[in-house]
Amino acid sequence: MSYKIICGSCTEKLKSKKLKGIDLTFLDPPFNQGKEYAEHDDNLPDEIYWQWMQEICSSIYALTSNGGAIYFMQREKNTEYVLNCLRTSGWNLQNLIVWKKKSSAVPCSNKFGKHYQIIAFATKGKKSRVFNRLRINPSLPAGYKLERENGLYVTDVWDDIRELTSGYFAGDEALRNLNGERFHKQQAPISLLLRIILSSTKIGDTVLDPFAGTGTTLVVAEQLGRKSLGIELDPMNVECIENRLTDFRNDDNIQRYFKDYIHTENLSEIWDTDEIISTNKNKVLSLFR
Ligand SMILES: C[S@@+](CC[C@H](N)C(=O)[O-])C[C@H]1O[C@@H](n2cnc3c(N)ncnc32)[C@H](O)[C@@H]1O
Repeated sequence: MSYKIICGSCTEKLKSKKLKGIDLTFLDPPFNQGKEYAEHDDNLPDEIYWQWMQEICSSIYALTSNGGAIYFMQREKNTEYVLNCLRTSGWNLQNLIVWKKKSSAVPCSNKFGKHYQIIAFATKGKKSRVFNRLRINPSLPAGYKLERENGLYVTDVWDDIRELTSGYFAGDEALRNLNGERFHKQQAPISLLLRIILSSTKIGDTVLDPFAGTGTTLVVAEQLGRKSLGIELDPMNVECIENRLTDFRNDDNIQRYFKDYIHTENLSEIWDTDEIISTNKNKVLSLFR
């Protein structure tokens, strides 16, 4: 077991002197859009919210190893605030990643429909300590006839990762309560964390998720042989993470994505297939029994 889950507020926990040597952080905080959270007020005045985000980015910076990375996910309309938070807390922007959604755009009456979320990728210092150039082989666009022999490098537009939206498209990967409703509406897909962790870490590195939610980051890190630390405010979510990590579900198994990355030159160095974790197809997380 190479993960640790802390129940409590990351605002305080990240100040602990005991934490250090973080190589990668996935930062997926509540977006302050009035969503319902059991333990968190998602309707803060904008100024307070962005001051808080800046404080979080600074605390993470202090704990991160030189060249370590942060991936800060947010709504596209908040891009300028995200970049400002990162810059003023010392981070160097490497890419502004556009995560283009697979489901239809959110319609807007007086502007273009919204079809993506942003993920700002930044490092401590100008140079990444680790950056693995992943190659993928997405389906050929209509009209293209020649297969690619070696796939292509991942760019800053990610349009091959399906989000776990509500309804039909959420599929079996989305955790559900007994009544079929999603357990956590913001559960990130394992394929997103797979891309982030593979890109910016080596086997044995340490990954932090200060707003761990259902623990997607820890679930993927564990399978890739990375150490991980998750902090989560809501005890129900903490119980969910513990269950998800001890009773691995087939739908959390990253092996189904291995073939997508086979053209990556150093894949055998960064994805240790001996780490395969046995999963149980019919397992129901004990939390939901
Ligand atoms: C957007 S969700 C993260 C979802 C996560 N990426 C996943 O895949 O499940 C944000 C999470 O932050 C938690 N949270 C809110 N305030 C927090 C705080 N101060 N410290 C730690 N966690 C907090 C919420 O309970 C929620 O589960």
